[in-house]
Amino acid sequence: MLASGAHTSFTYYKTSLMIADYDIGLAVPGEAAAIARLSRDIVEYGMTWGWTPRRVLARHFDRSTNVVVARSSGIVIGFALMEYSDDYAHLLLLGVAPNCQRRGIASALLAWLEATLRVAGIVRILAEVRETNEGARAFYQSRGFEEYALTPGYYQKIENAVHLSKVLNVGGASFGQGNAQ
Ligand SMILES: CC(C)(COP(=O)(O)OP(=O)(O)OC[C@H]1O[C@@H](n2cnc3c(N)ncnc32)[C@H](O)[C@@H]1OP(=O)(O)O)[C@@H](O)C(=O)NCCC(=O)NCCS
Repeated sequence: MLASGAHTSFTYYKTSLMIADYDIGLAVPGEAAAIARLSRDIVEYGMTWGWTPRRVLARHFDRSTNVVVARSSGIVIGFALMEYSDDYAHLLLLGVAPNCQRRGIASALLAWLEATLRVAGIVRILAEVRETNEGARAFYQSRGFEEYALTPGYYQKIENAVHLSKVLNVGGASFGQGNAQ
């Protein structure tokens, strides 16, 4: 399980962006709808909306999950949901608003989550991505994930899933990639 203090140990830290500042930190319940809408539009396109506001909200109150956002001027521009178990963490959702992509925001979200994993002593992250999502696959590979399996029809029998795994370097050399400072 996630160490009990990990939900509050990493509140916010400033991250600089070329054109604007953004913060990364735990989401508040009032941001569940914004996260859900982004998920619907950029992750779940073409499928039945699964990550509804209610489902995202439930994760806010689930002690085994961290809901993390990137905010600019109070607006949610990126999000990540990670579920923790004893031996690994599962990255359930990750997304960045289209007009904010390729600025290191997803990398910073991932680095924030990896910091919580270090506290909890968890070194393995699992994730899935739609097979046709070449951009996300490139992102994960750039962040040290390896593709290890494919499940046909995993996404509502519409699309295959590529399964990915990353083992954190507990020595720190490969930890905290991206723009987080
Ligand atoms: C995948 C996603 C989260 C990446 O977010 P991001 O903030 O743009 O990622 P970063 O800026 O941190 O990218 C870091 C590196 O990943 C790689 N990368 C990211 N997006 C890429 C793309 N579309 N094509 C190729 N490489 C990409 C690049 O190497 C990039 O470094 P560079 O910009 O210096 O070349 C974002 O494109 C997104 O939200 N996509 C829609 C939702 C989604 O697919 N989520 C993942 C599955 S749940």
